[in-house]
This record gives sequence, structure tokens and C-alpha cells, in this order.
Amino acid sequence: MVLVEEETLSGTHTNCISVNDVTKSYGKNPALSGLSFSIPCGEKYSLIGPNGAGKSTTLKLLVGLLVPDRGSVSIDGIDPTTKRAKKLIGYLPEDASPYNTLSVRENLEYIGAIREVQNLRERVDQLIYEMGLSEYEKSKVSKLSRGNRQKLAVALSVIHEPDILLLDEPLNYLDIPTQEKTISIFDRLNATVLVSTHIMSIAERLTHGAIVISRGRTIWDGTMEQLKQLGDPTEAIEKIVMRLMTGAAPTH
Ligand SMILES: Nc1ncnc2c1ncn2[C@@H]1O[C@H](COP(=O)(O)OP(=O)(O)OP(=O)(O)O)[C@@H](O)[C@H]1O
Ligand SMILES: [Mg+2]
Repeated sequence: MVLVEEETLSGTHTNCISVNDVTKSYGKNPALSGLSFSIPCGEKYSLIGPNGAGKSTTLKLLVGLLVPDRGSVSIDGIDPTTKRAKKLIGYLPEDASPYNTLSVRENLEYIGAIREVQNLRERVDQLIYEMGLSEYEKSKVSKLSRGNRQKLAVALSVIHEPDILLLDEPLNYLDIPTQEKTISIFDRLNATVLVSTHIMSIAERLTHGAIVISRGRTIWDGTMEQLKQLGDPTEAIEKIVMRLMTGAAPTH
């Protein structure tokens, strides 16, 4: 993989997430075909696209779980497979699976220790309380409901207060009060955020920018305001996104 030299978080304002002409296939099945976009440090973007567009693949490349066949990705200017990059990243996968045989508290303590979290005990107590997991803190993950497992996955993704958050459908399965709690936890971090979602109301709550991809390529990027301006003032944002995804002409 080519390593892109850029300024770091501590340096002048620059891109904290970069995807440069990336191609990635699974066997003969192309997932990304020359995908490019970048996100300046501190900004929050949604990654939007139809099923199979390549959103989860993009996030896996940015976390360093996959490597590009061609092109490059960088996190704060460095290769995401490096230890230094991994420290910066908080990742919530699409089907997060915390350790089934450990309890909620044990999962947080274990991952927190690996992440070298300072004041781990207090951080774990705080996350258990904030995510409404107090009742289940001693329960094994295998016994949790899908939503409670997702609450734990959210807590695990932010335990080390990452500078860069990569979130794949983060609010799936969560009840409405927990969705609100989760949004405020993400906001409080002041991180650079890339979040994949199909739900435009969530995209608008969590981010101010959008990258729309289809068939492994970027087809549009800009601010949410610019996205809305592609349609009539009364038009639902979902309709505008649908037109972009299907390649139909804008209404004006
Ligand atoms: N492990 C895999 N093995 C083979 N093909 C895969 C694998 N993971 C993804 N793909 C293929 O890569 C393409 C992109 O998939 P990806 O999961 O990145 O899409 P997505 O945008 O996240 O979709 P969704 O909205 O359904 O979550 C799809 O054609 C998919 O079938
Ligand atoms: Mg996906």
C-alpha cells in the first residue's frame, strides 16, 4: 500500500481521512472501483449509498482490516494498519460482536485495558451508566438482546475517546432514548467522523456533510445543505438521494 504523507492531527488543518483512487475486489467481485474522497480533520460526514455500494468495505479499509488492491487510504496521514493509526480510530462494525463469553463489564474492562485507557474503572462505570446497561453489566453478551449488544458495541467503540470515528450503521437496533444518548456521546468526542447509514434523519443529526457512493465510486459529495438544494424546498431529502443513486436528473 502507498503511504500518503500528510500533516498530522497536531499539525496544520488537513485531511484526517483520505481514500485515493481505491480499487478492492473480493475474488472476482469488484466492491470498490476507483473510490476517492477525503474528510478534513474535525469534520463529520455520512457515507450514503445503496446496498452493496461498498460502504462497509470502505470502512474496513480505513480501519486496516482490509488493504486496497490499488490506490491508498490514510488516517491522519498514515497507513491505517499501523499501531499509531489504530490508536486514533474508534470503529463500530456493521455486525458488532463483542466477546460472547464475557459479561458487559468484562468486555469494557478488557478492551479498555488493551486500548490503555486511563482511569479505566471510572470510564467503564460512566459508559455502563450512560448507555443504560447497569441492569446487564454482569450478563454474558450471549444472553443480551440485539439492542443491548449494540449499546455495548457503541460503548466499546468510544471507550478510548478516539480522534477518528468510523461507524457502520451505528444506531441500528437502538431504542429512541439510547439513540439520543449515543448521538450526544459521539458529539462530545469532537472527533472526525465517517458514518455509514441509510437513514437520512440520522445522517442529518450526526453529520453536516455527505459522500454518496454507488458501485464503488463517489457520485456526489458536499454539505447536507448543498444536498438539499439539489431538490425542491419541500422535497424530502430521501427523494433527492434516491435520484442521485439512480442517476436521474435533479429537479432543478
Ligand atoms: N466478504 C465478502 N466476500 C465477497 N463479497 C463481498 C464480501 N463483503 C462484501 N462483498 C461484496 O462487495 C460489495 C460491497 O459490499 P459492502 O458490504 O461493502 O456494501 P455496503 O454498501 O456496505 O452494503 P449494505 O448497504 O448492504 O450494508 C457487494 O457486492 C458485496 O456483495
Ligand atoms: Mg454495509
